[in-house]
Amino acid sequence: MEVPFARPSMRGGEAEALAEVIASGWVSQGPRVAAFETAFAERVGAPEAVATTSCTTALQLALYVSGVGPGDEVIVPSLSFIATANAVWQCGATPVFADIDPLTYNLDPAAAERAITSRTKAIMPVHQVGLPADMDRFLELSERRGVAIVEDAACAIGARYKGREIGSLGPLACYSLHPRKVITTGEGGMIAVHDPVIAARLRRLRAHGMDMSDLARHAARDVVFEAYPERGWNSRMTDMQAALGLCQLEVLDEILEDRRRLAERYNAAIERIPGLQTPHEPAYARRTWQSYCVRIGPRAAISRTELMRRLLSDGIPTRRGVMAIHQEASYAGPHADLEHTEAAAREVLMLPLFPDLTDAQQDYVLECLAAHAVRQAA
Ligand SMILES: Cc1ncc(COP(=O)(O)O)c(C=O)c1O
Repeated sequence: MEVPFARPSMRGGEAEALAEVIASGWVSQGPRVAAFETAFAERVGAPEAVATTSCTTALQLALYVSGVGPGDEVIVPSLSFIATANAVWQCGATPVFADIDPLTYNLDPAAAERAITSRTKAIMPVHQVGLPADMDRFLELSERRGVAIVEDAACAIGARYKGREIGSLGPLACYSLHPRKVITTGEGGMIAVHDPVIAARLRRLRAHGMDMSDLARHAARDVVFEAYPERGWNSRMTDMQAALGLCQLEVLDEILEDRRRLAERYNAAIERIPGLQTPHEPAYARRTWQSYCVRIGPRAAISRTELMRRLLSDGIPTRRGVMAIHQEASYAGPHADLEHTEAAAREVLMLPLFPDLTDAQQDYVLECLAAHAVRQAA
C-alpha cells in the first residue's frame, strides 16, 4: 500500500468557487480577498485580518510594523521551520535562538526572558505544529519587559489556548495557508490584527505603500490618484486564492475534527509500542494536529533514520520532526545552549496525517511502525 504523507482536503466547493472568480474577470486582490479577511477575522476572534502571499511575508510585515529593523534582535525558537528566522532577517534584524519546553516543543518563556538584551525588540512564540505556546506568560513578559509579541501561528488556525482562539490573544498573529497546513489557498498567509490603525498600515505595506486599494480605486466615481506615503512590498493575495480560502474556512471545523480523530487513533495505538512516545497534550490547549509527531527515545532499539527508511520502503513517507534552525549553515554561529531543541530535532519524526487519510491507510502505518519497532527491540 502507498500512503501519502499529506494532502489538502478540498471538500468545500473550491473548484466551483475558483471557476466563478475566473469568470468574473477579477483575479488579483479584490472583493474576495476583502471577504476572506472579514470571515477569517471573525473565525479567529480578531477585529481585523490582513491577507498576504505567505506566512513568511505576514511575519516580515508584522515584525516591521512592530518596529523591528536593522540592529534589533528578535527572540525565536530554533526548533521551527526556517521561515521563522528568515522573516527576522528579512527585516534586517538578528534572530536570537532560545530553547524550548521539552514536552510541548514550544519556546520556553523563561529561556526567552533570559535571552532578552538591550537590543531585543520582539519575541516570536511559535505555536508549533498547531499546539499553542504559553501565551499568558509571553503577554505578561511583553508587558513587563517592553518587548513586542508577534505570534508565528503558521499551523494554528482553529487552535485554542485556555478556551480562547489563537488570534484573539496577542496583537499580531500570522498564519500560513500552504497546502501542508490546516487549511490552504495553495500559497498564502494571513495576519490577525487587533489595532485598526496597524491593520490599515499593513494593507498599504503589502501593496508598495499605496494609500488606496485597487478595489477602492475601481469603485471610485471620480478620477483618483493614489499616493505612496511610505515604501512597501508586493505581498498581495489573489482573489483566486481567497475564493479557495473562503471555502476552506467553511469546512475548517470538520477538518479539525477529522485530524483530531486520526491523532487519537495514533495515540491509542502508539502508546502500546515500546520505545515510542506520543505527543504531550497540555490541558490548556486544543491543538490543530497539523502534524503528528512521534518521539523515538534515546533508549529505543531502532534509530529514527532507520525507522524512516524502513517505513519508506513499505510505501509510507515520513518526515523528520521540526528542524533546528541553528544547526543549518545559514544560521551557524555562537548560540545559547539549546539542549532540548537539539534532542527534539534528533528524536522526532512525523507520520502521515491529513483529513482524508483512511482508517485502512492508518492501520497499515501502525502495523508497519509496530513491526519495525518491536522486531528491532526483540
Ligand atoms: C512555524 C512556521 N512558520 C512559518 C512558516 C512559513 O509559512 P509559509 O510557507 O506560508 O511562508 C511555516 C511553514 O512551514 C512554519 O511551519
